[in-house]
Amino acid sequence: MRGGRGQPAPQPLLDVTDLRVRLRTPRGPAHVVNGLSYSVGPGETVAVVGESGSGKSVSVLALLGLLPARTATVTGQALLQGEDLLRMSPERLRQVRGPGVGMVFQDPMTSLNPVLTVGRQIVEGIRAHGDVPKAQARARAVELLAEVGLPDPVRAVDRYPHELSGGMRQRVVIAIALSNSPALLIADEATTALDVTVQAQIIDLVEKLQADHGTGVIWITHDLGVVAGIADRVLVMYGGRCVEDGTVDDVLEHPAHPYTKGLLGALPDLTAIGPDGEIPDLVTVTGLPPAPTDLPAGCVFWPRCPVRADPRCETEQPPLVPVAPLRNGRLGPDSPPAEGRDGQVGAGRLPHRAATWCAEGLS
Ligand SMILES: Nc1ncnc2c1ncn2[C@@H]1O[C@H](COP(=O)(O)OP(=O)(O)O)[C@@H](O)[C@H]1O
Ligand code: SF4
Ligand SMILES: [Mg+2]
Repeated sequence: MRGGRGQPAPQPLLDVTDLRVRLRTPRGPAHVVNGLSYSVGPGETVAVVGESGSGKSVSVLALLGLLPARTATVTGQALLQGEDLLRMSPERLRQVRGPGVGMVFQDPMTSLNPVLTVGRQIVEGIRAHGDVPKAQARARAVELLAEVGLPDPVRAVDRYPHELSGGMRQRVVIAIALSNSPALLIADEATTALDVTVQAQIIDLVEKLQADHGTGVIWITHDLGVVAGIADRVLVMYGGRCVEDGTVDDVLEHPAHPYTKGLLGALPDLTAIGPDGEIPDLVTVTGLPPAPTDLPAGCVFWPRCPVRADPRCETEQPPLVPVAPLRNGRLGPDSPPAEGRDGQVGAGRLPHRAATWCAEGLS
């Protein structure tokens, strides 16, 4: 929820430290998540961006024990309100899903039961975590379906998933995720398949949930326009690592890592639209992301980096370090507190970090 910026960072709701995921594959071990650390505060929205295959989905599936136990090795720590998700029993994890963590994936059919009406699925979700009479839960289901913009919710509640379009099914999944007012909502490309009007409706709904319940949100998306609209902070993933993170303004307006710059360059520059309305060429990062079974020895971005120059690039992974102070006269994280961007004296300043040797402004 945008608007908390410039305030001191709240106590984290979720605190992830050195998350690593290795998957056994026929082509050898796949190092899919490689030391990811981040936190999400109450009411805060952290957007996770990066190309397909960078480990975004696996990193959140790992938090809820949703990876195949036979092939996945997950290490690190993920404290949700002080309790480590990675060390919870399956039973405790089931309790936590719902009121603790709601999840929405891109493909609604992975979350819906095809043989139960959508109403029954919402009602069961509500009743599994609270002593709510059936009629009241059903009324709440209708209300939720209306809130996520499903037409004719009174009838829709008795429909089966296959009777609804993909977009409507996704709205049902979102209704289920919101039904227990979760402390943390994880949305993985949740609105990618929805049209922009419905997407805006869902985003409003999530913001309302955040305002009412202090819900923290992890919003995984390809859509940098959405990120600019909803996120407080951005985490850029590449090769299973965070290569840059910071407030949404810092990252989008002053990207420090060559990969982030490339991602942002991949947007068309709408100010450069020609006199006949022709859209300028997109600037993209050339080449492909590394396979997690075959990561580069040094900087994970080295094979595609247009500015690699430092001899260490090929042999060492640069750590995430604070981007130096004093862009636009603002202070960096190591400087004493002073006037923040919104003019509040003593306002905290969330760090902007990047994993590269060569960006300007690294301390
Ligand atoms: N069950 C699996 N077994 C083997 N490799 C997987 C599995 N799931 C994902 N991967 C691999 O892990 C990498 C990261 O996947 P994913 O987290 O889905 O990326 P993203 O969500 O960023 O697009 C990809 O290279 C993908 O092929
Ligand atoms: S460390 Fe080197 S290869 Fe990696 S992003 Fe920076 S300049 Fe490029
Ligand atoms: Mg994904």
